[in-house]
Amino acid sequence: MDGIGNPTVISLQIGDLAPNFQARTTQGNLSLSDFRGRWLVLFSHPADFTPVCTSEFIALARSKERFDALDCALMAISVDSLFSHYGWIKAIRDNIGVEINFPIVEDPSQVIGRAYGMITERSQDASAMRSSYFIDPNGIIRAITCYPATIGRSVEEMLRIVAALKRVDKGEAVTPEGWMPGEAILLPPPVDPASFEKSVSDPLWFYRLRDDSK
Ligand code: BEZ
Repeated sequence: MDGIGNPTVISLQIGDLAPNFQARTTQGNLSLSDFRGRWLVLFSHPADFTPVCTSEFIALARSKERFDALDCALMAISVDSLFSHYGWIKAIRDNIGVEINFPIVEDPSQVIGRAYGMITERSQDASAMRSSYFIDPNGIIRAITCYPATIGRSVEEMLRIVAALKRVDKGEAVTPEGWMPGEAILLPPPVDPASFEKSVSDPLWFYRLRDDSK
């Protein structure tokens, strides 16, 4: 138990190495490490053949080229079997005309979901799983989101998170509220004494917006 009465649960945090795994997917056997060198959004969904998940998959498939433009792959995961995944993507193709163009991992044993903390001993069932892990080309988890089963994620926000992480990695920037690519960035706060001394003559030393359009 922790200090506030919850069972102690190990869950992954930003900065952790994403646990590697190998699994069957709708695009063959894949390992997480196959994606090294690219960005990856690994995202779980509560169950196949459910309305919110179907809406997310349609939107993600339609946005695949925008993720590709960010050099970012997509990989879905749920506890449903591979055969359920095949049935669902066929139903989406046949009835909605959308091809699900990213792999879906099967995790019936919940081994992967538990390793990531998507499911814990406190979860009532796998419908707790609507988490997204934004993993950098070195395999490090750089952002995590977690939504309830009843609320769909925003694909625009998923794209924005990847773009913002990439912009910050280019250096000399942190991204302000609602930042979109090309918009003004903020200079990182001055942390070492010399740069603090230098910037403190500016009354807005703590809020240095800079054009980033070039
Ligand atoms: C859905 O994706 O629509 C959903 C999944 C689990 C519970 C409720 C809704």
